[in-house]
Amino acid sequence: RQSQVSAELLLVSSLTKLLPVFVVLQQITFPLLMSVGSAVIGSLQFGYNTGVINAPQKIIENFINETWSERYGEPITPNSLTAIWATAVSIFSVGGIFGSFSVGLFVNRFGRRNSMLMANILAFIAAVLMGFSKMAKSWEMLIVGRFVVGLYSGLSTGFVPMYVGEVSPTALRGALGTLHQLGIVVGILVAQVFGLEAILGNDNLWPFLLGFIFIPAIIQCILLPLCPESPRFLLINRNDENKAKTVLKKLRGTTDVSADMQEMKEESRQMMREKKVTIPELFRSPLYRQPLIVAIILQLSQQLSGINAVFYYSTRIFEKAEVEQPVYATIGAGVVNTAFTVVSLFVVERAGRRSLHLLGLLGMAGSAVLMTIAMALLEQVKWMSYLSIVAIFAFVAFFEIGPGPIPWFIVAELFSQGPRPSAIAVAGFSNWTANFIVGMTFQYVADLCGAYVFVIFTVLLLIFFVFTYFKVPETRGRTFDEISAGFRQTSATGEKHSPEELNSLGADSQL
Ligand code: GLC
Repeated sequence: RQSQVSAELLLVSSLTKLLPVFVVLQQITFPLLMSVGSAVIGSLQFGYNTGVINAPQKIIENFINETWSERYGEPITPNSLTAIWATAVSIFSVGGIFGSFSVGLFVNRFGRRNSMLMANILAFIAAVLMGFSKMAKSWEMLIVGRFVVGLYSGLSTGFVPMYVGEVSPTALRGALGTLHQLGIVVGILVAQVFGLEAILGNDNLWPFLLGFIFIPAIIQCILLPLCPESPRFLLINRNDENKAKTVLKKLRGTTDVSADMQEMKEESRQMMREKKVTIPELFRSPLYRQPLIVAIILQLSQQLSGINAVFYYSTRIFEKAEVEQPVYATIGAGVVNTAFTVVSLFVVERAGRRSLHLLGLLGMAGSAVLMTIAMALLEQVKWMSYLSIVAIFAFVAFFEIGPGPIPWFIVAELFSQGPRPSAIAVAGFSNWTANFIVGMTFQYVADLCGAYVFVIFTVLLLIFFVFTYFKVPETRGRTFDEISAGFRQTSATGEKHSPEELNSLGADSQL
């Protein structure tokens, strides 16, 4: 009898433990998945265009050379070819800088969903420009196309995390926010595979490789109109309570949405006091200073970690490390990248943003040291080329644990509805500018520093680790309002709160 009672107790206690998991799983409804899934097609496009230009470099350079010879009657000089190629590659980030900075112009005027829908015009234009550049014998079209798709991608890196953050229930905001990064990494991987010579990375088919973005754009144009507008936008910006409620019921799959409504109304009341916050106001107000610094530094920690040194130049890095099949090692990096984003997706709501970001930065710093050792000893020890593969894979894996996904979605969490669009614009701008700088300078710096180039990233990673440790609060499980209340408190009391104290300000209702 006693053993029966204890068995029952055990059952009850394990069921109670599972209860929050059920509650969370119940919140994953079809309309929610459909909305998030349709939005992250924008992330996929960004990733695809990040990865697509790596493999077919030689083939497209041939095309530029031929076009030049036909036009001017003489072959192109190596300097001009390098300049045209470098422009075609890096103008993508210039487009990204402009696009991300313009997010605020759209989201409050047209709504989050419609902004994403409209951006597809840019994807179509870019697809036509790049897809027909060979036929039109114009590398100028290729460059303009890369700029236009950069604009699209810059807008997406603002629109998608904002929309996803605003439609997600609090307990799932991190996991669903990570889907933005998952879209990006899948895009990179697809581009790497399509770019293989046997598939689309050859003389005849490369225009299809670049014009492919047409297809996801069509799919997104079909799906987005079936998705709801962000309920926060409907209630707080449009003041349409009924519509907000209807949308919430659909997204949550329940008729009782009073808790969500209550929370949004609280934010709305707060916003009445704050009004819409412009970018200059964001910088002037002491209220936003701390979250803004946190948002910007987190973006910098993502890009200045050196991740795109790998994604833009991995094939070259592997060649230098004397790896036999560098293209396949690059695809391997893409696979590891995707796998670890999935890992992060499942742990981010348990482990929290702050700890994962810290772990990721430290792991990347360790991997960068390993990479340096491998490169430095390459001459003496042959198997160091294998160590370099392990080091790059570990570098990428740790990136996706935290520094990859978290900076993208945490900005939407750090700000309430009023300052959110401006904050996302500033954060996106910082991210893309740092992306551009690494893309432009890595090759030169690598030539200058040789085997020791990753030491620079190690130092930066450690600085970002220290900053995160002291300044970044945990946002997991806290409503938008609780998070900004935490910061308000800090600014009112002159930064007397440690991140741990800030954490305890929010309800830590967790899985
Ligand atoms: C992040 C970065 C992007 C990078 C990618 C790699 O999304 O923003 O620049 O290429 O991760 O997975």
